[in-house]
Amino acid sequence: MAQEWIKACSVDDIDEEDVIRFDFDGATYAIYRSDKDEFFATDGLCTHERVHLADGLVMRDIIECPKHNGRFNYQTGRAKGSPACVDLRTYATRVVDGDVYIALER
Ligand code: FES
Repeated sequence: MAQEWIKACSVDDIDEEDVIRFDFDGATYAIYRSDKDEFFATDGLCTHERVHLADGLVMRDIIECPKHNGRFNYQTGRAKGSPACVDLRTYATRVVDGDVYIALER
């Protein structure tokens, strides 16, 4: 498998301290913009009951799941609050010409 940079969205598609959903090739991801104007990406579904995290709430470096309020650090993927106890997978991001790309194994 090789790493490939996939265009996920425009920088302007995400407000600071917010998240959007990105679906690609049968999988779903969450793309975040931090309060420091950095971009991050994780798997899009909560590891507890597979709810879309893009419907959750971003607070600093935390995404709170909309279903049971489980929390993850979206920058490291680490599960931070019950009932979420399995870490999220994270993906490298980069910004080129105003677009956000994420690195996927393909
Ligand atoms: S589905 Fe996310 S914490 Fe339960």
